[in-house]
Amino acid sequence: MAPKRVTADSLREMKANGQKIAMLTAYDCLMAQMIDEAGADIILVGDSVAMVFAGYENTLPMTMQAMIYHTEIVARCAKRALVVGDMPFMSYQVEPSQALANAGRFIQEARAHAVKLEGGRAMATTIRRIVRSGIPVMGHIGLTPQSVYKFGGYTMQGSTPEEAQALIESAKVLQDNGIFALVVEKVPSDVAARIAETVEVPVIGIGAGPGCDGQVLVAHDMLGMFERFKPKFVKRYAQVGAEMRKAFDQYVKEVKSGEFPDAEHSY
Ligand code: KIV
Repeated sequence: MAPKRVTADSLREMKANGQKIAMLTAYDCLMAQMIDEAGADIILVGDSVAMVFAGYENTLPMTMQAMIYHTEIVARCAKRALVVGDMPFMSYQVEPSQALANAGRFIQEARAHAVKLEGGRAMATTIRRIVRSGIPVMGHIGLTPQSVYKFGGYTMQGSTPEEAQALIESAKVLQDNGIFALVVEKVPSDVAARIAETVEVPVIGIGAGPGCDGQVLVAHDMLGMFERFKPKFVKRYAQVGAEMRKAFDQYVKEVKSGEFPDAEHSY
């Protein structure tokens, strides 16, 4: 029997019951299945795919076509987790009707269960429009990587009292406009904890400390596969990159020396 799918309602219940929410990214079937079977509640098909999978400098080159491709794969392969498609740069900022049409593609073509978009109160009208059409929206405030040029880098947000207050206000506005959950990225722990106490929707932190209702990491980061840089908030649970290098080196050596294939691997 197929496992019961995590929903926006069940996530809200988890927050109410003090149960922490585990979220990870995936861009392909194998990873989606492993993460799903491990019991993660949410799988985000993040636009981080641009950096950790496609090798771009930042997330800005990601297109709807590419995001739909990855999201369809993950949504087909994950049986329990709620699958969230990350709306790429310029797929929702132009105007609410453009955002709604693109959010609809994530649901209809890619079979995602929800979409995520970045931004604070400026996104309120857009979020309301999408939610009113029946599509669950996850918000994302704090460090929003699609604004990397505006921020001048991946800098911590909310570190002054004014910035912290603005983040709390943004969280309330997004909640009032219908988000079902909120990602808060790279803000001081006490600020994230205040946001989580203020709103009823689950707050999922990344670099936002233990006071959030759940946590998200990029799977390639926590596996030690993406090695180009490592923010302080990334805990490496494995050294998969190093293991892969070892295996590739060994394979190349054995092919060159004629050691592979041996009798055991030949017909
Ligand atoms: O794109 C992504 O993977 C994300 C997470 C870092 C939250 O937005």
